[in-house]
Amino acid sequence: MSGTRLFFSAAEDYLVPATEELRERFPDARFGAVGPDLGWIDAEGLAIGALAEACLDPPTIFIRHLMREVGSIPADRAANLDDVVAIAIGTWSQLPLKSDVSLQVWSTGEVRTGFRTDELRRALAEALTERGITVARSGQEQILGAVVAPEGIILGLNGHGSALSDWPGGQVRLSKPKGQISRSEFKLEELFRVHDFDVPERGIAIDLGASPGGWTRILRQRGLTVWAVDPATLDPRIASDPKVHHVRMTAGPFLNMTDVVADLVVNDMRMDPDLSASVMLDAAKRLKPGGTTIQTLKVTPHNTLRTVRRVLESLQRDYDIVWAGQLHHNRNEVTVVGRKRP
Ligand SMILES: C[S@@+](CC[C@H](N)C(=O)[O-])C[C@H]1O[C@@H](n2cnc3c(N)ncnc32)[C@H](O)[C@@H]1O
Repeated sequence: MSGTRLFFSAAEDYLVPATEELRERFPDARFGAVGPDLGWIDAEGLAIGALAEACLDPPTIFIRHLMREVGSIPADRAANLDDVVAIAIGTWSQLPLKSDVSLQVWSTGEVRTGFRTDELRRALAEALTERGITVARSGQEQILGAVVAPEGIILGLNGHGSALSDWPGGQVRLSKPKGQISRSEFKLEELFRVHDFDVPERGIAIDLGASPGGWTRILRQRGLTVWAVDPATLDPRIASDPKVHHVRMTAGPFLNMTDVVADLVVNDMRMDPDLSASVMLDAAKRLKPGGTTIQTLKVTPHNTLRTVRRVLESLQRDYDIVWAGQLHHNRNEVTVVGRKRP
């Protein structure tokens, strides 16, 4: 074994499918977990660049972020903030640090230290700044990581290109926008913020399972006219918009009776994933060739990888899968972006 652990993060409860994805790619590797959302892989000669490439092609669904361990501070030495900072700076200083770095500090699992992660980040940033290093939260080529875990503090260093995500542990933090109607909005916001998809900015969208109207609000902001389909009510702020057509019925009957042809179909319906996929196959006839779909599949931690793969395969009858993954704001969900085959 190489003796260097490479860490991968996933959603809490979804470390098992994330590990399964890596085990398929690296059958001889050793695996372990240091927290409910952070696992490690150790394989002879495996470098973080090769791990990142393996996660990108073919793309994994459950792995959010990668970090290469360069040192660690056991829990019994991690109680005092000054000691932790001294050890971390001592560890990083032995490595070829760039003059500008991103510093990312987060925690996993139940931890008992005498300081919070934001206090640790501030102290580390001050110590690095004193040494002439410019510290940012993200956007730099080199990422210094510190993860507060039950076993102690894990110190990391790797390139931005091999991290998969430029957010600490892949945890994308978004502030609540003014006028937000539902927390579901964060899922679309994160998707648009982090992934560079070609999503229509004009034309017609069908929003299946639209109530109370958060996704419809975001699609309206992008300039789309929205057919919002849901037997439940819409928030009055969105229901009164003349370019929102609320159809108070379930998705199946709507797709059978409508003659609307959309540029985008989104589906956030609370529904069994196989059923949700069959609705999306029905929706293909209401979508322009090359039109986009965004769908959340409601999953459970049991048999997740198998379920998601089965659903993706069935969607491929009519769609190319552009992206499938578990966003930070997906709880027991996987988001799928598709494009209707011409
Ligand atoms: C998670 S909520 C959607 C939240 C919405 N995306 C937002 O941002 O406000 C799920 C919705 O799916 C709707 N739903 C469940 N089954 C449906 C069906 N067969 N047809 C239409 N809507 C359905 C429910 O009524 C519920 O309002």
